[in-house]
Amino acid sequence: MTMMSKPVGIIGTGSFLPDNVVTNFDLEKMVDTNDQWIRERTGIEERRIAPEGMNTSYMATEAAKKAMQMAKVSAEDIDMIIFATLTPDMIIPSAACVLQANLGAKNAAAYDLQAACSGFVYGLITAASYISSGLYKKVLVVGAEILSRRVNWNDRGTCILFGDGAGAAVVSEVPEGYGIKGIDMGADGTGGPSLCIPAGGTAVVANDQRVEEGLTFIHMDGPEVYKFAVKTMGRTVLKSLERAGMELNELDFFIPHQANIRIIDSAAKRLHMPMEKVFVNLHKYGNTSAASVAIALDEANREGRFKRGDNVAFAGFGAGLTWASLVLKWY
Ligand code: UT7
Repeated sequence: MTMMSKPVGIIGTGSFLPDNVVTNFDLEKMVDTNDQWIRERTGIEERRIAPEGMNTSYMATEAAKKAMQMAKVSAEDIDMIIFATLTPDMIIPSAACVLQANLGAKNAAAYDLQAACSGFVYGLITAASYISSGLYKKVLVVGAEILSRRVNWNDRGTCILFGDGAGAAVVSEVPEGYGIKGIDMGADGTGGPSLCIPAGGTAVVANDQRVEEGLTFIHMDGPEVYKFAVKTMGRTVLKSLERAGMELNELDFFIPHQANIRIIDSAAKRLHMPMEKVFVNLHKYGNTSAASVAIALDEANREGRFKRGDNVAFAGFGAGLTWASLVLKWY
């Protein structure tokens, strides 16, 4: 049983990471932390930081070009761009419109989607609905972030976790039998305060004092988000599997949001997935929020980690609080 009236899958992936590497040892010089603590508690060893002058939309453009090249689609073929990010270049125009101009995707509608770290999976599901309904044929979904500009570099509870990067996928109709088989998306807005940027919106406007106090940076109750993540990751994949009419043992590969290796381990256990079937790159990039699953997907794909016909699950969770997962038969 499939949830889509047309089979919809992914026909191309791409990613972009800035060259600049910041290691845990570099962070030791900035805040009261150490490599051992970061590695043991998170699995992260280094992250990429975009240099000054490089914007979220630039990274997204590079990732998108690679995805389109793999999919063999031109910019004019794209009907819609969905850009998942919490760190757009600016509020208006949307990052999606900047990307549309960069690509010359003149036939594409374009908008940003804000579901934090769940954004890319939310975006894939949204894209699939447009295609399955017959409204559009090719949708470009991008996840890109420059979190280094939203992180308080004096807060050891958050600055060790995040990194910058971009990933993209071209979503399209695929042959019968392949594509998305089951999805799950959800939100619990009551958990919002545990991961937020208090100022800089219209409720608490950014001013010098608030910037000085760090209120325009990411604030997180780490243990609270951790508990939510451990509860949610496995559960959402099980729900997608159930909706796909699949059993756990039919799952061939798992691409989880790259936030913390302990969260990934616990989800893998719950899904009875040995770690060889779970993609991990967070030791290199840290948590890149909406870009995380997108980058992991592209790396796994280019490394040939799954093949046509494999059942691949994706899962994200994050601020909102939000979560999303899907199971697709890879084409
Ligand atoms: O995309 C979604 C985004 N967020 C997440 O996925 C985050 C989920 N949460 C986590 O991954 C974990 O909660 C953290 C990695 C953020 C923290 O790990 P934890 O095991 O929950 O540590 P904790 O916050 O309970 O802190 C334990 C101790 C504390 O010291 P005391 O009170 O035991 O003396 C902290 O002050 O570790 C201390 N600590 C640190 N020490 C060295 C906290 N951060 C650091 C640090 N370096 N960077």
